[in-house]
Amino acid sequence: MAYKAPRGTFDILPEDWPYWNFVISKARELSALYGYEEIETPIFESTNLFVRGVGEGTDIVEKEMYSFQDKGKADLTLRPEFTAGVMRAYVEHGMHTRPQPVKLFSLGPLFRYERPQAGRFREFHQFNVEAIGSQDPALDFEVMSLAWQFLEELGFRGLSFQVNSTGCPECRPKYVEALKEYYYAHYDEICEDDKRRLGRNPLRVLDCKNPQCQPIIAGAPKIADFLCDECAAHFATLRRYLDAAGRRYTVNHRLVRGLDYYTKTVFEVWAEGIGAQNAVCGGGRYDGLIEEIGGPPTPGVGFAVGLERVISTLRSQGVKVPEPPPPEVFVAALGKKARDKAVPLANELRQHHVPTLLSFGKRGLKGQLRNANRAGARFALILGDDEVAAGVVTIRDMESGKQEQVKQKEIFAWLEARAQPARGR
Ligand code: HAM
Repeated sequence: MAYKAPRGTFDILPEDWPYWNFVISKARELSALYGYEEIETPIFESTNLFVRGVGEGTDIVEKEMYSFQDKGKADLTLRPEFTAGVMRAYVEHGMHTRPQPVKLFSLGPLFRYERPQAGRFREFHQFNVEAIGSQDPALDFEVMSLAWQFLEELGFRGLSFQVNSTGCPECRPKYVEALKEYYYAHYDEICEDDKRRLGRNPLRVLDCKNPQCQPIIAGAPKIADFLCDECAAHFATLRRYLDAAGRRYTVNHRLVRGLDYYTKTVFEVWAEGIGAQNAVCGGGRYDGLIEEIGGPPTPGVGFAVGLERVISTLRSQGVKVPEPPPPEVFVAALGKKARDKAVPLANELRQHHVPTLLSFGKRGLKGQLRNANRAGARFALILGDDEVAAGVVTIRDMESGKQEQVKQKEIFAWLEARAQPARGR
């Protein structure tokens, strides 16, 4: 065929949906449990929103955005993440007048022009959570707990947090200076990428995967030694909450994350069998972001979980998810007269909320019953000329193979008497 799904994108097929539904309904259930309400923002936004919000020197803005001009010459970008758009909505709808913090979650697709590889796609999906309008470290702990419980209840094992504090506009610049000074002293030993990063986005040198840079990173100054009193106290309180809850975490001095808006807390969730490159969840605090995009100074904290990574882990760990219930009834018909009865019968069954499949085309009875079997139907309702003449249907129990004739008028009562409670009629 001439067409394929674009590189880095994929179809979510019917057989995938039990996983997607399981994960999405768990996201909705736990959001409600923690008091988070749903918000949906547009899939494209002004390009500038992301340039300002995510940050000019980031990989996302420099290399990964799907940006375009529409026919009215507006500069737009397919959202590479949720946070900037949700903050835009917070400001646009004056949500600062609501009781704070405003707690929101979203589910949907994001777009990044990345090099596709395992767990990395160009269209992917997130469960995204934001809590806006409070500086309380208890809120950092709350969103982290929601992320943890979400993954745990999906069946993840071996969860742990990586946490760090990236400071604030008061203390971070001093750290960046010290880091640059140290790196320039080792300029000949570092990779070309790091040389470039030093100019544009120096904190990202800590994230470098190049083997030659690892000893340099190990000896680099740590931000923990530069935090101002407020940032240090915030981080200490958060760790106290994590300790009290018995959460497994590592203070990771190298954790800087790829978006510019973070202040104070940053974190990732790692799970067993998923390496550092494959964090299932990342987030943190962004106390300067709303101001950066033109709103009143407003703090916030949140995270996003990558749903593809979650689902592929569930699959590889063999986690069982609920399957949709099979159809109750499969209506089979032989001959034109029977067919003319079968079509309204299937229609009527559905009006009564009996999950029903109808056989289409001209197949023999054997072929139709094979389809009923494949679909997992509980009963086949068989109509042939004899049945039509006698005003009955033959009902076959697909499991036992037992058949009986039931008057057409009595079909509903017959099915009702055998209804499984799970059907919820
Ligand atoms: P992020 O770390 O860029 O953070 O993405 C969060 C999660 O989305 C990652 O941990 C990963 O599971 C998934 N993800 C990211 N890129 C891809 C990709 N190309 N393919 C598949 N999965 C991917 C953010 O997006 C922040 N907005 C999170 C946040 C919310 N911070 C505060 N509030």
